[in-house]
Amino acid sequence: MDIETKIEVLKKRIFEAELGGGEKRVREQHEKGKMTARERIDYLLDKGSFQEIDKFVVHRCHDFGMGKNRIPGDGVVTGYGTINGRRVFLFSQDFTVLGGSLSETVGQKICKVMDLALQNGAPMVGMNDSGGARIQEGVMSLGGYGEIFKRNVWSSGVVPQISVIMGPCAGGAVYSPALTDLVIMVKRTSNMFITGPQVIKAVTSEEVTPEELGGAMTHNTKSGVAHFAEETDQDALDRVKEILSFFPQSYREKAPVVPCTDDIDRKDESLNKVVPTNPKLPYDMRDIIRKVMDSNTFLEVQRHFATNMVVGFARLNGHSVGIIANQPKFLAGCLDINASVKCARFVRMCDAFNIPLVTFVDVPGYLPGVNQEYGGIIKHGAKILFAYSEATVPKITVVTRKAYGGAYIAMSSKHLAADANYAYPTAEIAVMGPEGAANIIFRKEISDAKDPNAVREKLIEEYRDNFASPFRAAEVGYIDEVIFPEDTRPKLIKALMMLQNKKTSIPERRHGNVPL
Ligand code: HXC
Repeated sequence: MDIETKIEVLKKRIFEAELGGGEKRVREQHEKGKMTARERIDYLLDKGSFQEIDKFVVHRCHDFGMGKNRIPGDGVVTGYGTINGRRVFLFSQDFTVLGGSLSETVGQKICKVMDLALQNGAPMVGMNDSGGARIQEGVMSLGGYGEIFKRNVWSSGVVPQISVIMGPCAGGAVYSPALTDLVIMVKRTSNMFITGPQVIKAVTSEEVTPEELGGAMTHNTKSGVAHFAEETDQDALDRVKEILSFFPQSYREKAPVVPCTDDIDRKDESLNKVVPTNPKLPYDMRDIIRKVMDSNTFLEVQRHFATNMVVGFARLNGHSVGIIANQPKFLAGCLDINASVKCARFVRMCDAFNIPLVTFVDVPGYLPGVNQEYGGIIKHGAKILFAYSEATVPKITVVTRKAYGGAYIAMSSKHLAADANYAYPTAEIAVMGPEGAANIIFRKEISDAKDPNAVREKLIEEYRDNFASPFRAAEVGYIDEVIFPEDTRPKLIKALMMLQNKKTSIPERRHGNVPL
């Protein structure tokens, strides 16, 4: 064969591989509102940057007539490229090939890029659209999943791992995304569940649609499995690009700094009025976050889940920061089980990737309730203490209003090694709220009084004036400075710049034992 013929053979092979499951199946994919595996890659990566690996790999199964059904590349497209000039590794499951199901060879292809991502210190993006384990291959397919899970764990905290769910993701297959840092789901076309509606009906008689059971909004509101719900494949891939802009390539680096066009000395007088003078009135903590961060940089994570806690990424003077904030608008900003898990996981993710933490505090305490106690608020609440105490990135805290009891300690207090602790003049830092405190310590005076209600009110006010303020904490150095709210942005930027070279560590150990 001469070279021209050989080149023609190669071209033909490339053409066949890039056709995936064929035109009919590509059409069906489009009819469902989904992009194909290759279209997703083209959209995600910088133009022309994609380098494919294992394009001609075929499965090795001969059972059930599978020998006649061997499509080059099998059910996944893998490789590497760049997003805004920064290297990423990826896999994109191809639903047009045997439903994107995971064969032994699909597993090996995915593991090969995961190994490259880990060894070369670059993020790994997984685009999931698959019927799960290739049923014809049995345990060979299960082995493939196991190898992927192991690599997810080995990569955890080394390189950022992002999962995009763009079709079915069922059975044990869900555990790979669950082991990654962030999960993005596409509304209506994606779902995730361990056992589907039919199995559930047979076992428990419960009737539920796939969307109700494991659709994007279910996992963004109820289970907390997913972090984002997007309208289309394109929106989901745009979200990947935005998220990665906040991350370093690996734990060995710092996140990229982008030029800051927002005034770093910008005061904002409206901040003086965001916190209502009446401590019982709610307000939206996101108003403070947006006014303080570089303009239009706040990206909220898990926006629909545990809404009493706000977490997300933003920039201060162009530097990535992780934001954690109590949200007085919901449940008065109490810490419950879901909020604790949401907060702790986000803190640990930021710490793993050198992203400094900025915490805004307005928390009346842990949420009381039998369900909370039975559900393990003790161990889940402890996760926040664990996460903040072990985090060695710069930690800056602003108490805007309430910081009571154990929740005061938990929310990045000085005692958990926060570096810069600020409070607004409206802050109330104490063991408990004035009502509860006065009722306990002045019980006798109140019950002996002629007019117990009037005396109670007076004593509550006295307690509030004396103790529910930032000054007791500032007098002992637990608060470094009581600041004018309008100065929040310049204060935070100065503290962040001061902490740029922070180096500290916690005692050596094999690994801590997070209260799971
Ligand atoms: C082999 C599969 C497959 C699978 C789908 N296909 N899933 N082939 N193994 N797991 C094939 C179908 O046979 C079909 O081929 C083609 O892919 C497209 O599938 P359709 O059913 O036509 O598509 P759709 O109607 O959109 O339904 C998608 C689906 C359904 C909901 C994903 O295919 C389905 O329920 N698949 C089985 C899901 C499943 O039970 N997987 C195993 C989960 S257990 P043809 O040639 O007929 O068009 C698991 C364990 C992992 O994954 C454990 C890890 C620890």
